[in-house]
Amino acid sequence: YQPFHKKFQIPLSNRQWPDKVIDAAPIWCSVDLRDGNQALSVPMNVDEKLEYFRMLCEIGFKEIEVGFPSASDTEFRFLRRLVEENAIPDDVTVQVLVQAREHLIRRTFESLEGVKKAIVHVYNSTSPLQRKVTFSDASREKIKEIAVKGVRLTKELVPTAKGTNIRLQYSPESFSDTEIDYALEICEAVMDVWGPTEANPIVLNLPATVEWTTPNVHADQIEWFCRNLKDRNKAIISLHTHNDRGTGVAATELGLLAGADRVEGTLFGNGERTGNLDIVTVALNMNSHGISTGLDFSDLNAIRRVYERVTRMDIHDRHPYAGELVFTAFSGSHQDAIKKGMDRVSKAESSSSEYGWQVPYLTIDPEDIGRNYEAIIRINSQSGKGGVAWVIDQEYGLDLPKTMHPEVGLVVNELADNRGAELSSEDIWEAFRQSFVNCE
Ligand code: KIV
Ligand code: ZN
Repeated sequence: YQPFHKKFQIPLSNRQWPDKVIDAAPIWCSVDLRDGNQALSVPMNVDEKLEYFRMLCEIGFKEIEVGFPSASDTEFRFLRRLVEENAIPDDVTVQVLVQAREHLIRRTFESLEGVKKAIVHVYNSTSPLQRKVTFSDASREKIKEIAVKGVRLTKELVPTAKGTNIRLQYSPESFSDTEIDYALEICEAVMDVWGPTEANPIVLNLPATVEWTTPNVHADQIEWFCRNLKDRNKAIISLHTHNDRGTGVAATELGLLAGADRVEGTLFGNGERTGNLDIVTVALNMNSHGISTGLDFSDLNAIRRVYERVTRMDIHDRHPYAGELVFTAFSGSHQDAIKKGMDRVSKAESSSSEYGWQVPYLTIDPEDIGRNYEAIIRINSQSGKGGVAWVIDQEYGLDLPKTMHPEVGLVVNELADNRGAELSSEDIWEAFRQSFVNCE
């Protein structure tokens, strides 16, 4: 194995990103229907894509990559269907992916007829590994020429797309393992051809197509690129991280600190191999820091149900925010602390003072994303007295005096031990009733 982190590290002095905080949301672009869909063992059919597209609009995405219309008939038909059904809201821009190849670019323009706002996303792969292996030792000049020619043709075709406002996105695919000065050279050549302005900027999407390194190296690449790009004010810098090392979210968050403006990703991280960046996690992380993101995840369970049905994949029980168990505390000490925190929050709310969410072990209020308090505390043999009293209080409205907590906890723990299983609130109430209500 090569020491990749050294290979891709770039010279960067006085880095700014380690001292920054994220204080505003980026532009979001969902690539669920393209990068996500292409990675499914059974890709979505046109009806499923339509349902998913509508859900993405409801969540609040204003930029949605809807597919690769020149790649297949299904992809082409999907975009036509969006147009026929008038399904694209006026404030939503659809993005279409295309390789920098003449016949594919022409076909892409055919698919756009009737679309009001589109981003044509032209890409070609640029890394030494791709040049050598995939493009049979193509020279750097030749690879740059592919990009330039593709963008030149795109520009020529713009006047033919009457009634469509077209913007350009260019991706040097495999950016994160491309020599950084060469990636910059290609992007600047593309900008020279396209001629972006401050009012009409180009999107430069810098993919970590495969995540080869640690997130700090990715952040350095982004900061270096933002600092050195000639006309930085005429470009929107976009991140597109994958998750091969399990650090796609971290790489995106550090990339934002390093100066990026835009984020591409998918719901729950669907995508090639280990997936694309999980936008739900990044957005809710921001919410937990008080940043409003423009994305509505207030009914995450409903989103999850659609996702699981159309992708035919399950969300892991430990998945941040969405997993079945992430708002569940099994251990007594955690339950106790959560109860104390929630009591303080509800007291503060009833006196309408500013308090905020300060509950140990829970980074957000589960209710903010439509998760249920009822599911937070489950009782098994590892649970403590505080959790048992909390369930009796919440479910049966009986606020037990503190002095009773140890004894009630003992009875319930014994029952859980004997059963060797988790107890429901009915089991707990029954055990409590038999031992404490019916006794003389
Ligand atoms: O991961 C990637 O590089 C891509 C490009 C096509 C943008 O999906
Ligand atoms: Zn990708």
